[in-house]
Amino acid sequence: MSVIFETERLTLRNWKKEDTIPFIEMCADPDVMKYISTLHTPEETRITIRRIRDHFRKYGFGLYALEKKDSKTFIGFTGFMIPNFEHYFTPCIEIGWRIKTTEWNKGYATEAALACLNYGFKKFSFKKVHSFTSIHNKASERVMQKIGLKNIGSFIHPMLPPDHFLSEHVLYCTEKNEFY
Ligand SMILES: CC(C)(COP(=O)(O)OP(=O)(O)OC[C@H]1O[C@@H](n2cnc3c(N)ncnc32)[C@H](O)[C@@H]1OP(=O)(O)O)[C@@H](O)C(=O)NCCC(=O)NCCS
Repeated sequence: MSVIFETERLTLRNWKKEDTIPFIEMCADPDVMKYISTLHTPEETRITIRRIRDHFRKYGFGLYALEKKDSKTFIGFTGFMIPNFEHYFTPCIEIGWRIKTTEWNKGYATEAALACLNYGFKKFSFKKVHSFTSIHNKASERVMQKIGLKNIGSFIHPMLPPDHFLSEHVLYCTEKNEFY
């Protein structure tokens, strides 16, 4: 197991092949995918994992697999990505998260994201980190607020039709000097 770093309750590590089945289950869970996209088939989730690995190879950072220290179980991801669309705030570093439903509301996304911010600002010298989500995704927006990001506006996601249920997004940001 290739550990990136640890928090009180979590190990943030590189992905391993045993994560594939639980991640396929997560990405086929309507509650998990409600504000992201349609449910993913197993093949689509395998493609997502390949994209996550490619992102690490290209940039050196990415979406870290989360493992609970007590049970050694995979519960999702938290980490960084470079959004693949153009807008006034891109290119940028985005922080994001996805946790399996049985582990929601236990503070895991917040714990992992705070540690990621600390790691990203120190190790990769990020100047700013953004996060965004559908205006309906209150849990994700709450995580942004809890880790100290500031709301800097909203936008219509350019990859979605303007009248799509998920098109309107809140946009949050933090800068290195605000974080320390
Ligand atoms: C968003 C997500 C990662 C949060 O993970 P988590 O580990 O449950 O997050 P935390 O426990 O650290 O914090 C969740 C916060 O949201 C709050 N919350 C949860 N549901 C909420 C809702 N419907 N409305 C308002 N707040 C809500 C919780 O009460 C908690 O805040 P609090 O500590 O102030 O009480 C998780 O819900 C998830 O995986 N969702 C599906 C995937 C997703 O949408 N990812 C983001 C895409 S942009």
